[in-house]
Amino acid sequence: MTLPSLINGPVGLERPETPAPAGPATGGDPGADFSERVRQGFGRGAASYENQARLQQGVAWRLGRLCRDLPLPAGPIADLGAGSGLLSRALLAQRPALAESPPLQLDLCPELLARNPLAGPGLGPWNLNQGLPPGLKPAALLLSSFALQWLDDPAGQLAHWSRRLAPGGWLALALPVDGSFATWSAAATAAGVPCTALPLPRAPALIAAASGAGLELRHCQRLRFSRPAEDGLATLRLLRSLGATASHQTPLAAGQLRRLLAHWPAEPLGWEVLLLLGCRPGEAGPPC
Ligand SMILES: C[S@@+](CC[C@H](N)C(=O)[O-])C[C@H]1O[C@@H](n2cnc3c(N)ncnc32)[C@H](O)[C@@H]1O
Repeated sequence: MTLPSLINGPVGLERPETPAPAGPATGGDPGADFSERVRQGFGRGAASYENQARLQQGVAWRLGRLCRDLPLPAGPIADLGAGSGLLSRALLAQRPALAESPPLQLDLCPELLARNPLAGPGLGPWNLNQGLPPGLKPAALLLSSFALQWLDDPAGQLAHWSRRLAPGGWLALALPVDGSFATWSAAATAAGVPCTALPLPRAPALIAAASGAGLELRHCQRLRFSRPAEDGLATLRLLRSLGATASHQTPLAAGQLRRLLAHWPAEPLGWEVLLLLGCRPGEAGPPC
């Protein structure tokens, strides 16, 4: 991939040296609110998402495994930020009895939902920044993988999810947290340019939000994953093919981007992933 083609693509790196008229030609409407830019990014990456999402697949399998034998109360199951359905499919493969009433697929991005075999025609795209759909009954199981970090208030939404569980219901969650993408941040510092990576929530703040909302944590693990060292261009290209392109920052100018890539360290790209499993105690107290 050449630098000019990169400039029309990845995470917050789309601003040409000379300011261009506002609009999608620079990789997303800068005037659109953040969730709209998130939606546009995942929409553009929808066709390549599953081919590239090896980490997400591995984490989905782990979450499915954690949920395999949970005692579930009555109530719906929902996959929050379900995308193409990797997590729900991993759960159903390990707990086939749930196929009778499969998880509801909630997601913002119609292009990913269109590729999701579990997404029915019912609800359509749903923006989780609005909370869970008001009609959703208290849930037996809420699942979410690699989605909460895209929301405007991850800790607040996590507390909300925890409160929407039925007594004895479970929440299973994975997301990348603060400490991920250290190579990107090191490159930005060395190049003297802003780091346009998505700021990720801090694990202790998320844990406190879930516990404060009454969730009893049964499993809490921080895992480190890395991909072999690649240059900056290959890394940013990967994020683009996953659709993970939205940034809160002003995109870098072409000169800044060149400097960033020139300073990219020859180190693996690392993800710090928080895995949480928690339960809302039953009305007469535990067990759940
Ligand atoms: C990296 S993908 C993960 C998809 C899936 N959970 C997986 O593990 O493969 C992030 C997902 O979060 C969704 N998402 C981001 N912001 C959202 C929002 N505000 N409301 C609903 N879904 C959102 C995106 O559309 C995308 O499908």
